[in-house]
Amino acid sequence: MIDEILASLSLEEKIKLLSGENAWHMEGLASFDLPGLTLTDGPHGVRLADEAAGEYFASKPATAFPIEAAMAATWNIDLIEEMAVHMGYESRFHGVQVLLGPGVNGKRSPLAGRNFEYFSEDPYLTGKMGTAFVKGVQSQGVGTSVKHYVGNEQETNRMVISSEIDSQALHEIYLKPFKMIVDEANPWTMMCAYNALNGVPLSRNPSLLIDILRNQWGYDGLVMSDWGAVWDKIESIKNCLDLEMPGPGKQDELAIQAYKDNALSMDSIDHRLRRVLALMMRSKKEFKPLKDYDFKKSHDIAKQVAAEAMVLLKNNGILPIKEKEAIGIIGEFAKKPRIQGGGSSHINPTVLNSFYKVMTQEKEIDYAAGYHGGQTNDELIKEALELAQSKDKVLLFVGTTELIEGEGFDRLDMKLPKGHRRLIDALIKVHDHIVLLNFSGSAVDLSAYTIDVAAIVQCWLPGQAGSEALRDLIYGQQNFSGKLSETFPLCLEHNPSYLSFPGSIDEVSYKESIFVGYRYYDTKKLPVLYPFGHGLSYTYFEYADLKVSSDEIIDDESLEVTVKITNTGDYSGQEVIQVYYGKPSAVVKRADKNLIKFKKVSLKSNESTTVKLLLKRDDFEFYSKKLKGMAVEEGHYQIFIGSSSRDIRLIKDIYIHSTDDVKEALSVNHSIRAFINDPEYGENILNIFNNLGFDKSNGLYEVMLGMPLKVALGIVQSFNLEEEKVEPLYQVIQSLQEKE
Ligand code: GLC
Repeated sequence: MIDEILASLSLEEKIKLLSGENAWHMEGLASFDLPGLTLTDGPHGVRLADEAAGEYFASKPATAFPIEAAMAATWNIDLIEEMAVHMGYESRFHGVQVLLGPGVNGKRSPLAGRNFEYFSEDPYLTGKMGTAFVKGVQSQGVGTSVKHYVGNEQETNRMVISSEIDSQALHEIYLKPFKMIVDEANPWTMMCAYNALNGVPLSRNPSLLIDILRNQWGYDGLVMSDWGAVWDKIESIKNCLDLEMPGPGKQDELAIQAYKDNALSMDSIDHRLRRVLALMMRSKKEFKPLKDYDFKKSHDIAKQVAAEAMVLLKNNGILPIKEKEAIGIIGEFAKKPRIQGGGSSHINPTVLNSFYKVMTQEKEIDYAAGYHGGQTNDELIKEALELAQSKDKVLLFVGTTELIEGEGFDRLDMKLPKGHRRLIDALIKVHDHIVLLNFSGSAVDLSAYTIDVAAIVQCWLPGQAGSEALRDLIYGQQNFSGKLSETFPLCLEHNPSYLSFPGSIDEVSYKESIFVGYRYYDTKKLPVLYPFGHGLSYTYFEYADLKVSSDEIIDDESLEVTVKITNTGDYSGQEVIQVYYGKPSAVVKRADKNLIKFKKVSLKSNESTTVKLLLKRDDFEFYSKKLKGMAVEEGHYQIFIGSSSRDIRLIKDIYIHSTDDVKEALSVNHSIRAFINDPEYGENILNIFNNLGFDKSNGLYEVMLGMPLKVALGIVQSFNLEEEKVEPLYQVIQSLQEKE
């Protein structure tokens, strides 16, 4: 059918279809009974523009789910897939054929404005969450758009900047989630980022759009631009960008003229159009509108996600709160809930109950605003102090405001708003039973308070059902099970991107390479405020009996890891077993720990279970610049089993046999020491230099060892040594030069 369509369209009609119809729609093809499509944001719910409302950014009511950073903090793949199914239902109800999400970019810096809209600092956790999201939404015949491909880790100058990323970090950290999702969930579409990568805008980057995405990964879905990311339509068409958004196309006349001037082939145009038509046909086949929908189902799921996402960072026993205890609620967020981030992901919630409302449904509870927005004053502080001093316990609501955290700009620091800090400082002077509840999309600096407050909960931006979830958690009706999806560093200066973020107007260099987040802090053995994967519970879990099916993997064999987990406390709870690997000595430096598996289990008090995880060779891959691809280095590895990246409970050593020749090939530029230490060359080179009189008795021995082989030859020749003793050295050098 597509060939028939292509044959029927004029050049102008074809070019027109390579752009959206307008901001949120793709024009259909009535002559072939192909309906148009509505594309709208995600990833925290369905943000369908409400044109009737008259306000540009008004959107139809839909469930405001917790932010992606919170979704990842659940570490519950099944729950996130179930949540995404409900986002699919709502998309069908609102007539949305493609939901623009999930965002799967990395988190180099806690300051990045859209960290709330991305899952994690770890690519594996991000990839697993993104896969669950895509599977869930697409199970409903609704497409997704995995974004922003690739290297969009900041808001500053995002539309013009070039992200300079080395190949190892690009493949191991930033491309990895995209590839996991392409391989495991086959997203209908992907969205290219605004930025350039290593100097070439993603909207026309052949290395990323053709070589990697199409040729290496075999992805055959549609690639659309981020909104306004196409600067050169002709080059975008040539380089496999299928759809310019928003429409209508800004440079269609130029593209038409380029074809007429033989500067743009019909083959390129048709290739792009095939994917546009394929998306229309797939949507026509799979999209089933929903006439009505019980939004409470989504609300209940949103509440469960929020409850499993909130992270108990500290608890001296003050939580759970007892019903009879006199508590005070302080902080405007308790009445004006901070539930989501600003920008394109902003949702118009179907229902929104403040924490104060949820709490006072059962009984009167005293409240003090403490601040307005990010500001406070003497009167507000005085009122808060008076309230606090009359209560057993204080629930203190703080966090970032939409003015300091959202799409389009990056934070300047990790500080809470000045008014919130002043309020906390005042309260900790007069009260030592404070539960600090932080609402933010990314790490904030809590280092000044961790000693003085009795408990800290990272509430993230928990969506419309966050208040109900929080209430159940602090009263113990539900147990905490969230684990940090990103590190809370002790200070911003410890963050590895501190000296390079956000770069200049032209470029930002990812100088930390693969050492992002815990990969950096752990390898540098830096103290952190709260580590990646950290989260307390009202109960405790014991890890025991770590077993592996074999102490070594040979090539593509799998390794079965089992560990016994016991709930040794009095509460039922959920634990996230995390599996990291390390490779103490490697041809290319590795991070001390790398997350490769995790599993969340529910256990009643005193219940045990044996968790079984299957590790494969691929879990230990790194990007080999020599092989220009992912590879596994033969050698010893360590398997770490833990309750967080810093709370490692059990360790196992294994050996992996691999046929990947990742060892750096020696050349005449390598030192004699490198040759002597090399299994292939060692004995021969040692003999050659010993025969030439260069052995440990020679005062120049150590000096010679440090010299490149090619320099050593010159030195040897200047000593007029016997030809037959020098000849073998000539032969080695000649064979090396032939290989180059
Ligand atoms: C943007 C965002 C992208 C969003 C698009 C449509 O600027 O970067 O995530 O999907 O516009 O709103």
